[in-house]
Amino acid sequence: MIRGFLFDLDGVIVDTAKYHYVAWQRMASALDIHFGHEENEQLKGISRVESLERILTWGALTLSEEEKQHWMTQKNAWYLDCIAQMGAEEILPGVAEFLENARDQGFKISLGSASKNAVPILERIGLLSAFDAIVDGTVVSASKPNPEVFLEGARRLGLPPEACLVFEDAAAGVEAALAGGMACVGLGDPLVLGAAHRVIQSFSEIPDPQLLVDSL
Ligand code: BG6
Ligand code: MG
Repeated sequence: MIRGFLFDLDGVIVDTAKYHYVAWQRMASALDIHFGHEENEQLKGISRVESLERILTWGALTLSEEEKQHWMTQKNAWYLDCIAQMGAEEILPGVAEFLENARDQGFKISLGSASKNAVPILERIGLLSAFDAIVDGTVVSASKPNPEVFLEGARRLGLPPEACLVFEDAAAGVEAALAGGMACVGLGDPLVLGAAHRVIQSFSEIPDPQLLVDSL
C-alpha cells in the first residue's frame, strides 16, 4: 500500500531545465563545445559534477580538477542569476493543490532531488513546508539512476520502498525509482518515461492523490 510520495524537483515541481540550459550553454560556448537542447535533455536528473563530465566528454576536452571546480562554480553562479527572480508563479500546474490534498489524505511527502539548490528554490516558491523530509544533492552523492536519493527519502519518511511512489520527469529518475523497488509516475513524454507505472502530463490531470494511487 502506497503511504509516501517522493518528489523530484526540477521538471516536476518547477521547470528549471531552461535555466540549467542557459548556464551550461554559457559554459560550453566559453569552452567551444557544442551544447544544444538535445544535450540538455540528457542531463535531466543528473548531478552537477556528472553533467560537467558528460559535457567535457562530448567536447573531447580534458580539464584538471581545479578547472572543473572553477567551471562548476561559474555555472552555478550563472544558474543562480537565472533563478533569482523565481516565485510561486513558476510552480508547475496542479502541484500545489496535489501536495495539499496529499497532506490532507495522510500521505508522507519527501523531496528526492539531485540539486544542491533545492532548499532555496522551495523557499522562494513557498513550498518548503509542504515536505516532511528533504533529500537533495547536499545529502546524497550518487547521481540518478542510482536509487540512493529515493531510498534515503523512504528511510526519512519511515517507510519501506514498496510503500513509496516517486514522481519523476527524467528517464534516469524513473530508472532510479524502479531500481529502489518503488512505484513511479512519470511527468512528461511517454516515449522517454515509458518504464514508469503511469505517465501523466501534469498534476492538474489528476488532483486527487488517492485516485492516482488506486489507478496504478
Ligand atoms: C537535477 C537536474 O534535478 O539537479 C539536473 O535535473 C541538475 O539538470 C541537477 O544538474 C543538479 O542541480 P544543481 O542545482 O545542484 O546544479
Ligand atoms: Mg527532474
